[in-house]
Amino acid sequence: MAQEESRVTTGIVSDARAAHEAMCQATRDALTRRLAELFPEPVEMTLEIGCGHGHYLAAYSQAHPDELCVGIDLVSKRVKKGESKRDKRGLERLMFLKAEALEFLDALPVHVSLKRVFVLFPDPWPKKRHWKNRFVQQPLLDKLAARAQPGAMLYLRTDHAGYFDWMKEQVAVNPKWAARAEAPWPFEAPSFFQNLMDSWQSLPVERVAGK
Ligand SMILES: C[S@@+](CC[C@H](N)C(=O)[O-])C[C@H]1O[C@@H](n2cnc3c(N)ncnc32)[C@H](O)[C@@H]1O
Repeated sequence: MAQEESRVTTGIVSDARAAHEAMCQATRDALTRRLAELFPEPVEMTLEIGCGHGHYLAAYSQAHPDELCVGIDLVSKRVKKGESKRDKRGLERLMFLKAEALEFLDALPVHVSLKRVFVLFPDPWPKKRHWKNRFVQQPLLDKLAARAQPGAMLYLRTDHAGYFDWMKEQVAVNPKWAARAEAPWPFEAPSFFQNLMDSWQSLPVERVAGK
């Protein structure tokens, strides 16, 4: 009897897992189709990952009207706030999408090239057992490198000293990127989180050739 119950429970769990995986796959497929429609031709993009309410990217886009600027975030409400800034300011080359960073990079058409990428005040996940959740790590750096030409820049900024050291370590062990501490920050405007902080550290990083 106990064995029968355990077989039934195992069956329910594996059905739920399969349903969840099918749902995730459908989301990834929908994102791939949407990005193919949005970017049918080769194009260079300035990307902000984890753009929150879009404060930084809206200001950046206003100052760089010729650049295609895309902000992505996991949270729909934040994406909508970004869209409302875009609409109020009439920023025609700015868009915000709800997407997870790694899934977005997997789904991006191969002819899209990343020129500048911003990661501003990402969640620091301060506890050691949560460091695996930090998104500045090798899978992100590798997927960004696959879409970035030599000379493309990644701009990292955080208020969390431990995460800043982690970022430097992650960049140092990846042969496709090199820290350029001396490089200028290309455009200053406060993000939502920057407005809440007293201090922060920044790390410009360059996609290097031949790796
Ligand atoms: C601490 S907030 C910073 C927001 C904004 N960059 C700022 O400086 O105000 C981090 C943002 O990253 C988003 N985020 C976290 N993990 C993400 C992921 N894997 N892909 C896309 N966005 C993510 C969160 O939803 C959140 O809006």
